[in-house]
Amino acid sequence: MSKIKICVLVSGGGTNLQALIDAQNSGILMSGEIALVISNRADAFALERAKKAGIPCEVVLKQEYQECFEARITELLEQNGIDLIILAGFMCILSADFTARFHNRIINVHPSLIPAFCGKGFYGLKVHQAALDYGVKVTGATVHFVNEIPDGGKIIMQKAVEIKEGDTPEILQRRVMEQAEWHLLPAAAELVCRKLRNGEEL
Ligand code: GAR
Repeated sequence: MSKIKICVLVSGGGTNLQALIDAQNSGILMSGEIALVISNRADAFALERAKKAGIPCEVVLKQEYQECFEARITELLEQNGIDLIILAGFMCILSADFTARFHNRIINVHPSLIPAFCGKGFYGLKVHQAALDYGVKVTGATVHFVNEIPDGGKIIMQKAVEIKEGDTPEILQRRVMEQAEWHLLPAAAELVCRKLRNGEEL
């Protein structure tokens, strides 16, 4: 049976993309294959990671496409026969039209235990800063389906990570990535791809 074709959407460093590439190489991700990487930034280091792994990549800039930004992404997804979209540090909020069109076909990794520290304005280091400001002792990461509510779709997997005395947002971000995101995202991607392949309920 053919593999689920995955497109990974990125904006930055791409360590989560790297975790997916590594999982594909080690066989942890076996029901799907990364067929395309799309970045909304021309200088995203994630693009270098994709190129090194021999994965086709595209840059779609909002400044260039403006109101046709999502239409261009949709065109690329369709041209490449993409079945599943993975948001891996993609720092754009997708419209309700887009998320409805790809219902249960978009997953996202978020660096907190949803419903804490999520939604509009909570991305990257800001999430970890908010967790530290609040003083929670445990945070983590969540992989969820994407719907019209930012970080509001059905949760697929979560993993808790301890917050330690003296943590800075940067130190905490690294721990959450190492202990949660880089394992959780490939595991959730494999789970969703396997279910899609087998026609199981998501
Ligand atoms: C990751 O921590 C990811 O969870 C977060 O941005 C970082 C991207 O790092 N995403 C969000 O905050 C989305 N709301 P990466 O480019 O190295 O994968």
